[in-house]
Amino acid sequence: PAIESKRLRIAMQKSGRLSVDSQALLSSCGLKINLREQRLIAHVENMPIDILRVRDDDIPGLVMDGVCDLGIIGENVLEEVSLQRQLDQENFDYEVLARLDFGGCRLSIAVPQEENYQGVQSLDGKTIATTYPRLLARFLKQQGVNARIVMLTGSVEVAPRAGLADAICDLVSTGATLEANGLKEAEVIYRSKAVLIQRKGLTDAGQLKLIRKLMPRIQGVMQANE
Ligand code: PRP
Ligand code: ZN
Ligand code: MG
Repeated sequence: PAIESKRLRIAMQKSGRLSVDSQALLSSCGLKINLREQRLIAHVENMPIDILRVRDDDIPGLVMDGVCDLGIIGENVLEEVSLQRQLDQENFDYEVLARLDFGGCRLSIAVPQEENYQGVQSLDGKTIATTYPRLLARFLKQQGVNARIVMLTGSVEVAPRAGLADAICDLVSTGATLEANGLKEAEVIYRSKAVLIQRKGLTDAGQLKLIRKLMPRIQGVMQANE
């Protein structure tokens, strides 16, 4: 008897910059997802696929650890997690299946609006809060700036007001979050878009067949959007 394939697991952001477009992409590919469910796992009704809705920052690790088969994630987050895992000597393998046409954003340093920012050297001796310490450290090193990095996994934008940091380094898309928190963009350190990634070592024939069926649909949706 044929061995039954496991359901394909796709990780996407639960809420934030990528969630609406990620959901739209999957829907356009024919996946029927029950969007009303506010659950961690949403079953796709018409295909052997489960959607895991998680924090975007957790997606690279889930794919690299093989917990999820595919993931939709920003290149910046992927790069940050890869750098961190290399340092920790953890597995950081993955494969990029497609570069997507959404999720454009930049990783930027932002300072309080009232501050008279005079260039990177103004950051010398300052404390910067971020969820992306590796990318920030790399940038500061390149620029020869000595700043203290404070790692926060969420609500980074409130750190200056809360007195936890002088500046932040976070993702900016529309700029609404910075604006709402009295911050202004000072330096862009990384630009990125969303990508579709696959875990290494995926060998299940049924799952591979399903991915081969989905890929042309994804390419088709992106061409239609051009
Ligand atoms: C990022 C960032 C800001 C927001 C910026 O959050 O941390 O909160 O996007 O977007 P804007 O410029 O359009 O306001 P993300 O989507 O990564 O969610 P998270 O903070 O929960 O990880
Ligand atoms: Zn995030
Ligand atoms: Mg955020």
